Amino acid sequence: MQIGYRRRSSLGVAAALLVASAGGGTAADSAKGRRIAERWCAECHVASPVQRRASDAVPTFSQIGRSERFSEAKLADFLANPHRSRMPNLGLTRSEIADLVAYIRRQAR
Ligand code: HEC
Repeated sequence: MQIGYRRRSSLGVAAALLVASAGGGTAADSAKGRRIAERWCAECHVASPVQRRASDAVPTFSQIGRSERFSEAKLADFLANPHRSRMPNLGLTRSEIADLVAYIRRQAR
């Protein structure tokens, strides 16, 4: 009885921690950014260090991450509204954009 009770309560704590880490947070997550990039950007951009082929006329994420023209704020602005560009507006949410910016900035090296 005592053992069963203990086990249940530690499971409860684990579940609460899981919920907290999954649900909480607007913190930018570059791992999520990477998944978004592979899905939505890699068709045109070289979006990761291991990707070899994409459209020639498009800057790679490592170039963008290093670019002087793109602070994090400018990058986020551009992704929210890539006007006057051949780059399509992909209708990203703010949290997707934050994740992508974190990911793209990590490509700079
Ligand atoms: C259909 C092709 C296509 C897709 C998909 C695409 N892009 Fe682009 N992107 C372009 C092109 C083309 C340009 C160059 C625009 C120009 O020079 O006018 C560009 C430019 C950019 C730039 C600006 C680079 C600069 O130096 O001006 C950023 C940042 C960018 N893309 C990020 C992304 C991200 C992040 C994604 C995925 C969410 C994405 N792109 C998906 C085609 C694409």
